[in-house]
Amino acid sequence: MSVNIEVEQYKIRSEPYYHSQSNEIALYEAAYAARLPVMLKGPTGCGKSRFVEYMAWKIGKPLITVACNEDMTASDLIGRFLLDKDGTRWQDGPLTLAARVGAICYLDEIVEARKDTTVVIHPLTDYRRTLPLDRKGELIAAHPDFQLVISYNPGYQSLMKDLKQSTKQRFTALEFDYADAHTETLIVAREAGVDAGVAAKLVDIAHRARALKGHGLEEGISTRLLVYAGNLMAQGIDAQDACRMALVRPITDDADIRSTLDHAIDLVFA
Ligand SMILES: Nc1ncnc2c1ncn2[C@@H]1O[C@H](COP(=O)(O)OP(=O)(O)OP(=O)(O)O)[C@@H](O)[C@H]1O
Ligand SMILES: [Mg+2]
Repeated sequence: MSVNIEVEQYKIRSEPYYHSQSNEIALYEAAYAARLPVMLKGPTGCGKSRFVEYMAWKIGKPLITVACNEDMTASDLIGRFLLDKDGTRWQDGPLTLAARVGAICYLDEIVEARKDTTVVIHPLTDYRRTLPLDRKGELIAAHPDFQLVISYNPGYQSLMKDLKQSTKQRFTALEFDYADAHTETLIVAREAGVDAGVAAKLVDIAHRARALKGHGLEEGISTRLLVYAGNLMAQGIDAQDACRMALVRPITDDADIRSTLDHAIDLVFA
């Protein structure tokens, strides 16, 4: 399959719904224009991935997303030789493909990946803009349109798993958080198809839960979970049941916290 055909599938055809929180769209556009690498920081489910999809659509470049995990090696990103009936054949990994064709490459949860993985992005993210394929003996000069974006949940990382300064300092960074109550209400209403009054109640519950972060809750209720609760309600599920299932049970196993949150739900939806 030629690279051009392959990359077609990474183009985003219709406008993703994204509600901006601040001036992040203009900041990202400037970073892209200068071809600076961008790091998106923020808690789970606050809109980082949606933002990259939206920006890739707006700028009109293909987006190649890689969900990183602890088993991921540098070869998973760069590529490897495969054995087939005619012998060996090189297959580009997603990072190499993005660098060749000029895509935006989004490495989601980069800290999860092994240390050797972060090193391969170094020459791509400084003035060199190159990617050495050591095994293949090839040095790729990144396509002028190529950009690297990584996401990073501060807070969740142990000291052992933090990114090195030499990696961090190759990126510009945008800090994300859950949107303000008004904006989050609009997002939840639109994404879940519930009316604004219901969405506002879901956001109210989220605010009560977020206040418990660090006091028995590791993380507050994300926008993603609010959308889930709305999705269940749009299916005809009773509000309290939907909230217990989507907002409370996923985030805690602690009986006290659970009953505190269940109580908040009963109050809000009484
Ligand atoms: N600003 C926003 N505009 C539109 N939808 C949003 C926005 N913020 C959050 N959402 C909704 O929340 C959901 C979760 O957002 P997203 O997947 O982008 O989170 P994330 O920050 O990438 O989380 P993770 O770190 O877990 O990958 C989206 O699918 C969307 O429904
Ligand atoms: Mg994401």
